[in-house]
Amino acid sequence: MIKINNLYKAFGSKIVLDGISTELRNGITHCIIGKSGSGKSVLLKLIVGLLPADRGTIEIDGNEINSLNEKKLYQVRRKIGYVFQGAALFDSMNVYENVVIGEFENGNRDDNYLLDQAQKTLSAVGLLPNYSEKETLHYQKEWNILKNIKPSDLSGGMKKRVGVARALVGQPKYIFYDEPTTGLDPITSEQIDNLIDELEVKMKFTSVIITHDMFSVSKIAEHIVMLDSGKILFDGNREELFKSQIAEVQNFLKRYHTDI
Ligand SMILES: Nc1ncnc2c1ncn2[C@@H]1O[C@H](COP(=O)(O)OP(=O)(O)OP(=O)(O)O)[C@@H](O)[C@H]1O
Ligand SMILES: [Mg+2]
Repeated sequence: MIKINNLYKAFGSKIVLDGISTELRNGITHCIIGKSGSGKSVLLKLIVGLLPADRGTIEIDGNEINSLNEKKLYQVRRKIGYVFQGAALFDSMNVYENVVIGEFENGNRDDNYLLDQAQKTLSAVGLLPNYSEKETLHYQKEWNILKNIKPSDLSGGMKKRVGVARALVGQPKYIFYDEPTTGLDPITSEQIDNLIDELEVKMKFTSVIITHDMFSVSKIAEHIVMLDSGKILFDGNREELFKSQIAEVQNFLKRYHTDI
């Protein structure tokens, strides 16, 4: 479980998170919603340790991350996979290099391990045939084509899948998606939602999704946190969200209702 307590973050005089507390329980799908600039990505970056908090605590499986030494912090961070906003693939690298970059940077240079991780995760996200067919000619043929493709030659949906594959390397316990369906057509969006659902069941991890996509929320969210002006405006389940009497919540839902 991830426990966030009284988290505070400002950039200069701009307060982005003003005392955020919530709990992300294991085994369910969490969605973080809120208008553009409300601090969703910043909250995610604090949780995954890409940015330091000014005040407050984040506990991951009972480990308060500020109190950990470097080695322990590294172990805790490895429990989290992170799909960046946009696909954030490196255009100068091919698909294979993009998927294993994290492990490579962590000092893992065993070619067989990296190859296996890339194939396993690219199969899991549906860009390669089933991993159990790994030894077949068909699989190897598909792999030879896919591994050398540059991100600029992939469709939007494929890019997202490569981004998800990258986050899955190392078998994290938690996976965070920053706007996984933004910019995709409705059908591809639905495929990505289904992939998120499917991976959660198959790999038994906990997903945290930042999204504007109310269709995704209505379909996959089990716990929703809505941010507004640095505060948590809503924290509850899907039924409670759609029944909420809070005017700002209703406004937000109305705006995005056309997606449903
Ligand atoms: N590194 C940074 N330095 C200064 N300001 C930042 C930094 N990162 C984020 N901010 C500011 O923090 C606020 C919240 O940004 P954030 O990216 O979390 O918004 P968001 O809710 O994810 O929005 P969107 O839906 O558009 O992605 C914005 O005003 C942004 O300009
Ligand atoms: Mg964002």
